[in-house]
Amino acid sequence: MVRVAHSPEDGAEGFCASSQAVAGLLPALDLEPVPAQAVPPEQFSLRQAGDGWALWPPTESKAYGRLPLRIDFVHDARFSTPLTLKEPLARAVGMKSGQRPPIIDLTAGLGRDAWALASIGCSVQAFERHPLIHFLLADALARARQHPATATIAERIHLHQGAAHTQPDALNGLRAETVWLFDPMFPPRQKSAEVKKEMRIFAALIGADTDAESVLSWARSQSGARWVVKRPHHATPWAAHCPDFTVESARIRFDVFLPRRGAASTSTGHPLSEEFSGQ
Ligand SMILES: C[S@@+](CC[C@H](N)C(=O)[O-])C[C@H]1O[C@@H](n2cnc3c(N)ncnc32)[C@H](O)[C@@H]1O
Repeated sequence: MVRVAHSPEDGAEGFCASSQAVAGLLPALDLEPVPAQAVPPEQFSLRQAGDGWALWPPTESKAYGRLPLRIDFVHDARFSTPLTLKEPLARAVGMKSGQRPPIIDLTAGLGRDAWALASIGCSVQAFERHPLIHFLLADALARARQHPATATIAERIHLHQGAAHTQPDALNGLRAETVWLFDPMFPPRQKSAEVKKEMRIFAALIGADTDAESVLSWARSQSGARWVVKRPHHATPWAAHCPDFTVESARIRFDVFLPRRGAASTSTGHPLSEEFSGQ
């Protein structure tokens, strides 16, 4: 288990301006506030870094490197170029010139796909159930909303904490043209040296999303134009879900599901299937 300490950096007083928007989320994380130097070497720590928050790896392990996991839509060059229609994600979503389908991102994670889709003009309802990852993403979006270069894109992303099937209100207004994006965590297969260190921190925190097949079953019972599942190349097909087609990229593939023929669209007012009613 990964334990996390909340550790304000030495000299930091209260919250910086951009973090105030998410500061209210901190109590829900149930973290133990300790001075930075008192974080046990085997623990992760959440700290303020500059104008935002970052998750620092345990100092005793070299596996995670020395840099923290931090989401920065404003300065990170990976987010500076908008998605184009030629890219696999845009093709998998079925985007065409002049058409920008509303997106439900069931697995927001570090917000990379949500950002890419928002950068090309889609409005994204994004769901993240891990409280710490949700916190880091909420913080990053709050910062991006304050910056003139990124505000418009950030405003298109509506982040919710928790799984979509637990939040019927967030799904109100679901439309037939909605595209569902699903990118669950799979157990890593690459040699550890090939996995970027920030992704090792992320994987240590989340583990594998073992309920992925059932989440997809629920999502496919909802209204929508297509369901796009991002998977590693090596992933074997799921018994219950055979994609209509696949869009491949160098490292991953997108399995695309179209509406089932003859299936009546489910109303969004009651999105919980029996399978999930106990969760
Ligand atoms: C592989 S990551 C997604 C990465 C994301 N697509 C991106 O571009 O950064 C999977 C994330 O989805 C979250 N997750 C998995 N299943 C979920 C569910 N049913 N509801 C909400 N979040 C979920 C995990 O906590 C994890 O943060």
